[in-house]
Amino acid sequence: MNLLNKHVITFFKRNPAISATAVAKEANVPPASLRNAIAGGRPLPEKHLVSLFHVLKKYGFNEEDYNQANVICVVNHKGGVGKTTTTMNLGKGLALEGKKVLLIDIDPQSNLTQHCGITTAETTIADTLLDDEPLPVQEVSENLWLVPSELSLATAESKLVTDVNGWFKLRNSLRGVKSQFDYILIDCPPSLGILTNNALLTCNNVIIVIETEYLAIKGLGVILKHVDGIKNNGLNDKLNIMGLLFTKVNTTVVSKTIINELRDVYKKRVFEASIRRNIALVEAAGAGTDIFSYDSNCNGSQDYLELAKEIIER
Ligand SMILES: Nc1ncnc2c1ncn2[C@@H]1O[C@H](COP(=O)(O)OP(=O)(O)OP(=O)(O)O)[C@@H](O)[C@H]1O
Ligand SMILES: [Mg+2]
Repeated sequence: MNLLNKHVITFFKRNPAISATAVAKEANVPPASLRNAIAGGRPLPEKHLVSLFHVLKKYGFNEEDYNQANVICVVNHKGGVGKTTTTMNLGKGLALEGKKVLLIDIDPQSNLTQHCGITTAETTIADTLLDDEPLPVQEVSENLWLVPSELSLATAESKLVTDVNGWFKLRNSLRGVKSQFDYILIDCPPSLGILTNNALLTCNNVIIVIETEYLAIKGLGVILKHVDGIKNNGLNDKLNIMGLLFTKVNTTVVSKTIINELRDVYKKRVFEASIRRNIALVEAAGAGTDIFSYDSNCNGSQDYLELAKEIIER
């Protein structure tokens, strides 16, 4: 494998406790050059990257993790909080930033599929989960692809539960696909059942979408416990809560209070970006298109682009 400058930057972002200066000295690379490259300055020349490769491997650099898509699932067992809206528009935001993005609709309601403007699909995620068919990936727009869903996925749940491989179907089907994308976003149904568990066993990051109301906050503990359970039982040791995302944010005192309280408790685990309540997001969904194509100047476009940029930075 060729170590690239972006791998070095990502490695130090993911491992803040590892000293760039110590690594540079060990690899006979000028520490200032390495620190500068990590800060987004001048890229390291090839000879330095070659020397760094062997040292970074000693510190846990694993080629596989760096040539694979960042797989993010968008979760909340509460319905109607903005999971599908977020998957669609974050995905498009990442695509507009030049990233190759695959969206996966694993919800029998198929709202993400409809949001992408697709009304009928010959093969869907149901064929993959039930009959081990290859993932049906179809192009939506530049840099953006979708694996559609259909209502019959609802009946798949009971079949998956009785299948010994039922929890691992999505993970297995994504193996050959992960190297083709920068990001894979999975839109989960409003439950913590076997479909969401398929997503949680497949992804390395979780975005928990929450509305700023007290009842919504109550469910947060349930999701965090569920994610911990999957991680602690060795079902997916790479599972990480990427962040809590506030949606449908309004200007009420309750909304502001909840945001402040959760930022105090979860600190950097709350995204800086938040999504304001914006009717254009509803209209874009109804029109079967993303918010940027619907109205590139509205609050929804601004907020989702900011979120996309924040995620690229992480
Ligand atoms: N920021 C927002 N401002 C206004 N309306 C929004 C916003 N985000 C989502 N909505 C609307 O709220 C409704 C629910 O959103 P969405 O379908 O994204 O939620 P969901 O969590 O995916 O729902 P489900 O749990 O049923 O899958 C939709 O009508 C959507 O257009
Ligand atoms: Mg949804």
